[in-house]
Amino acid sequence: MAFPLGRPARLAVIASGRGSNLASLLAAFPTGSQEAAVVLVAGEKAQAPALDRAREAGVEAAHVPWDTREGFEARLDELLRAREVDLVCLAGFMRVLSPWFVDRWRGRLVNVHPSLLPKHRGLHAHRQALAEGVSESGCSVHFVDAGVDTGRVIVQRRVPVLPGDTEATLAERVLREEHVAYPEAVRLVLSGEVTP
Ligand code: GRF
Repeated sequence: MAFPLGRPARLAVIASGRGSNLASLLAAFPTGSQEAAVVLVAGEKAQAPALDRAREAGVEAAHVPWDTREGFEARLDELLRAREVDLVCLAGFMRVLSPWFVDRWRGRLVNVHPSLLPKHRGLHAHRQALAEGVSESGCSVHFVDAGVDTGRVIVQRRVPVLPGDTEATLAERVLREEHVAYPEAVRLVLSGEVTP
């Protein structure tokens, strides 16, 4: 299957936490939109605020338990297929997916990471940026491949690192840009303008 689809795309968002990127995607791609709509939000944490945000927006919220990675991925894959999802957006999903899952969803699986990739991959991106003393940081939306934050970058947005910044202040500045970058990246993928 290749983009563009010629019909509204069906998006799934996978989130484990607070869900602010989910909120930006729900705002950009609401139910009934002719461009794309979030049809499913899923995550391994039953109490995640992200799942509540989905319910509040009238979108299906699924808790997919994590017993083993294989079990989680098999259930998630089945759910995504049952809902005929076209594009899967990881948004604050803090687990690494297996090559099997990544391969199955190749070209249809994207993630947001709070750094200017290839810099500061993996955990604690802001801590890494501050430790390195960089003068700017930012965010990247990228295709997911079998590595950790190694897939092709779709959109990046930059912010300055300011004197006195802490992980929290830098994270907040970067997060505002994530909320702009993610919908922009989804549009570029759905239009077929950017491929893995
Ligand atoms: C974001 O900073 C994202 O880049 C990282 O996890 C955080 C998720 O935040 N992968 P939220 O749950 O979308 O508010």
